Amino acid sequence: MNLTAESHRVPLNDGNSIPLLGLGTYADPQKTPKGSCLESVKIAIDAGYRHIDGAFVYYNEHEVGQAIREKIAEGRIKREDIFYCGKLWNTCHPPELVRPTLEKTLKILQLDYVDLYIIELPMAFKPGDAIYPKDENGKIIYHETDLCATWEVECHPYFTQPKLLEFCRQHDIVIVGYSPLGTSRDETWVNVSSPPLLKDPVLNAIGKKYNKTAAQVALRFSIQRGVVVIPKSFNPQRIRENFQIFDFSLTEKEMKEIEALNKNVRYVELLMWRDHPEYPFSDEY
Ligand code: A2P
Repeated sequence: MNLTAESHRVPLNDGNSIPLLGLGTYADPQKTPKGSCLESVKIAIDAGYRHIDGAFVYYNEHEVGQAIREKIAEGRIKREDIFYCGKLWNTCHPPELVRPTLEKTLKILQLDYVDLYIIELPMAFKPGDAIYPKDENGKIIYHETDLCATWEVECHPYFTQPKLLEFCRQHDIVIVGYSPLGTSRDETWVNVSSPPLLKDPVLNAIGKKYNKTAAQVALRFSIQRGVVVIPKSFNPQRIRENFQIFDFSLTEKEMKEIEALNKNVRYVELLMWRDHPEYPFSDEY
C-alpha cells in the first residue's frame, strides 16, 4: 500500500473508506482550557488530517464541529473530505435512545451527518440525564442491554493484538486503535504501572535512524499494519509531528522488532467498572 499525506484511506466493507491517521480529541475537561480543541482541530486540518475522532462525553464536540465548519467556510475542505467518528455514551444504549442521541450529537456538531457512530464502551449505565448515574453509595448504576456492535480496540506496540487483527483481517474488518501513543497516563483511568510506550529504547533507536520520534515510529508501525490510529494532541507541534509519518517506512525486520515489543498490557483497563456484567477486557479478544 502506498501511503501518502494526501492519500492514506483504507476501504471499508460497506464501500466507504477511512483515513489511517486521525486526530484524537479527548482531554480532561477540568484541565483543558476552553477553545483548545477548536484550535487543535483547525491546526490538524491545516496540517492535512482528514479524520477526527470525538465523542459527546468529551464535552468538546461543539468545538470539533465548529472547527470543521470554519474550515469548510474558509474553503480549505469540503464536508465529504472529513471523516468524523462520534460515540454513543453508556447511558444511551437502549435501542430507542440511539437515534435521538445521534441527533443530539449532530445538533452539537451542527453537521448533517457523522461518518461513523460507535458504541463508546460496551458497558451500559442507567439511562437518564446523569452522565455518570450513581447510587447513594456513589457507585455507578449499571444497566442491562443487548449488545451487538463493532467496537474500538486499544492497539499499539505494547498491545499488538495479533489474534484480533488476524480475525478482523479474515472478516474484512478495519480496526481503529485507540491510545496509539500509550495515553496521557492520567492515573484516574490509565494503568500507569505499565511502562511509558514512548520511552521504549527500540522505538527510539529506530526513530533515530530515520530522524523520527518514538511517537512517529509507533504511529507508522500501526498504519503499516493497516490499523487506523487516532493519536490525541492539542499541542500544535505534536499535532504536526504526528502527521509526518508518510515520508518514511519501516522495513520488515523493524516491523517484526516492534511486534516483538508486545507485552499484552492494556493502558486503559477501566478496572473501576470490572464488576459490570459486560466488562469487555476479561475476554481473550
Ligand atoms: P498533548 O496533547 O499535550 O500533545 P494517545 O493518543 O495514545 O491517547 O496519547 C495522547 C497523549 O500523548 C497526550 O497526553 C498527548 O499530549 C501526548 N502526545 C501526543 N503526541 C505526542 C508526541 N508526538 N510525542 C509525545 N507525546 C505526545
